Amino acid sequence: MRNLSAEHYTSPAIHKEDVTRIFAQSWQMIGPASRLATRGDYIATEIAGQKVFVIHAKDGLRAFRNVCRHRGARLLAEGTGRCNTIRCPYHQWVWGEDGSLLNVPWWGDDPGFEMSDWALETVEFKVWRGLLFVAIAPEVALAEQLAAAEGELQNEPIETFHWMHEERLIFDANWKIYTDNFVEGYHIPGIHPQFHAAIEFEAFETVALDGCVRMSAPPKEGLFYRGKWLWMWPNWTLSLFDGGMNTSRINPVDHARTELVYNFYFADTSEAGKAAREKTIADNLAVVREDFAICLETQKNYASGGYQPGPLSPRHEQGVAYFQERLRAVSGGSNG
Ligand code: FES
Ligand SMILES: [Fe+2]
Repeated sequence: MRNLSAEHYTSPAIHKEDVTRIFAQSWQMIGPASRLATRGDYIATEIAGQKVFVIHAKDGLRAFRNVCRHRGARLLAEGTGRCNTIRCPYHQWVWGEDGSLLNVPWWGDDPGFEMSDWALETVEFKVWRGLLFVAIAPEVALAEQLAAAEGELQNEPIETFHWMHEERLIFDANWKIYTDNFVEGYHIPGIHPQFHAAIEFEAFETVALDGCVRMSAPPKEGLFYRGKWLWMWPNWTLSLFDGGMNTSRINPVDHARTELVYNFYFADTSEAGKAAREKTIADNLAVVREDFAICLETQKNYASGGYQPGPLSPRHEQGVAYFQERLRAVSGGSNG
């Protein structure tokens, strides 16, 4: 098995296909549903550039495109907040939390204009074990997309962990370079020397399941990780700690830039445990950041035209092979 060809990581045209054929058609893990606990709470975010928001309405959650039906302005700023109605900042049209258009100020005489024609466009959403998923035009049911993860996590009490912290990190490499890197432990000795010293690297195992790659290694004393890391097609991850976990979403900004949205969750929310939690978060983010430089340099080499696809390790790169197989299937097998 050979690595994907460089154009997969550098071509704006292939990226456009990724957006419509992968990101718009799959369920995207947005973060903890607990951040929408109170009526009016919302999360506004991007899915590979497509703006959406989820709001806690009177009768439960609702999800919409974060796009004004008038001339397309962004309605809510990215992030979390609380509101009763959604007012476009541009010309001040107002929608209710159910998406119905309530007010169109200063419009003028227009007998053909029907408010009911201009409700917000909905997107699909679902909560799975405390995690919020959104899909613009899903190809499969969420349960199907998560079948392997369901099995991997059935004995982990993930919905009992409390969300504590979100961190967004942006770097200049294609989302697939970062994913290739995430789904192998092969780079741990070279890129993460301290992490390497804290696991039994000889026993590192990578297993590609349908829609999920599981990596595991026995941790030595003092490692915050439990030694099990999961990646789920197409772009989210879950890693277990003692008494908690992190999740991440690998979200493309464009063909050469990626945003990571990390969330941290813990069982213990006590004041006494605060320092330990903060240390876990800091240590974890330090490992994440160690990957950026190598991803950036790889991106440059792919973009330079100076790279021909090399071989993938049968011992350590089954996850990479699986991810790339899925990508080849999406692009109709036409691209090496
Ligand atoms: S673009 Fe939103 S009201 Fe005009
Ligand atoms: Fe890494």
